Amino acid sequence: MEREKIIPKSYPSNVLNQNWSQRPIYNKTNSKKFLKAVNEMEVRDDDVWLITLPKCGTTWMQELVWLVLNNFDFESAKQEHLELRSRFLEFEEVLYDGEGSIIKYSTEMKSPRLVKSHLPLPLLPSQLWTKKPKVIYVFRNPKDAIVSFYYHLRRYKETTFLNLTDYAQDFINEDMLTHQHFLHVTEFYALREEPWIYYTSYERMKSDLRSVIQDVCKFLNKNITETQLQQMLHHLSFEEMKNNSKTNHIWEAQQLCRIFNKEIEDVSFIRKGKIGGYKDDLTDEDINKIDNWMNNELQSHNVGLDDLLLQK
Ligand code: A3P
Repeated sequence: MEREKIIPKSYPSNVLNQNWSQRPIYNKTNSKKFLKAVNEMEVRDDDVWLITLPKCGTTWMQELVWLVLNNFDFESAKQEHLELRSRFLEFEEVLYDGEGSIIKYSTEMKSPRLVKSHLPLPLLPSQLWTKKPKVIYVFRNPKDAIVSFYYHLRRYKETTFLNLTDYAQDFINEDMLTHQHFLHVTEFYALREEPWIYYTSYERMKSDLRSVIQDVCKFLNKNITETQLQQMLHHLSFEEMKNNSKTNHIWEAQQLCRIFNKEIEDVSFIRKGKIGGYKDDLTDEDINKIDNWMNNELQSHNVGLDDLLLQK
């Protein structure tokens, strides 16, 4: 993807003190209009923002949070696509037809909004750092995220490489240039003690979903009964979500087919759902290369992978 360097737009300078003028940020070329609109958009006090790197369990957390915010209304959740109940900010740019506001759908949403974004911290709306609505961040072992992303791009036919080894190498090369992956996570990790931030990991959701649901309820000041907790564990299980036509991004796939004239036949967005599933797909050589990249990054950010995955 063609990228260009962007100047940091906004940041929580009162709690994260770093030299933002030195912060490298790259984004798709021709996105200036969209990024300006995002930076200037109105944030509501009762918003919940879900920020992740792609393929880190966003959809899983999104369904969880939507249900907590909507009084565990499983019936409504099963009737409407998740992408319409909770908007993906960057998808607004994809849907934009040149008329009116470029972030039309998120702006028109009823409160409380649950907004999903993969944007790095300094490109998020500036009001996020003054209004401080609830922000949830989910991280995942990059090796699993890389493999998951590869299958995702294949599904959306967005890559010309068909082999995972080439894709993994490209992922590392691009990241070495842009330094986005670990900057993205470590900035939110550094904010994890702030009362308006809830930081967790895919690995923690896999090993103790019950506690994560309880944490999110507490974070959002919502009560949950044992019966609702049991219903949540069932509804959010891998098997249920895989068979749920409203959580497999079918609507999003339909929009991409319509706008870009593509064919997307494989609708299994929820794919394998494993920790360490990368071992089934990557070669030892691929794993070594990714490990080297990760170790360098972790060292330069002075943090361990176990810290970021909350596995200590
Ligand atoms: P895999 O491709 O490894 O299976 P995102 O929503 O950020 O794009 O993340 C997608 C990943 O989360 C996919 O990983 C998907 O299978 C996994 N996932 C989604 N719902 C899940 C669930 N209920 N349980 C476990 N994993 C889930």
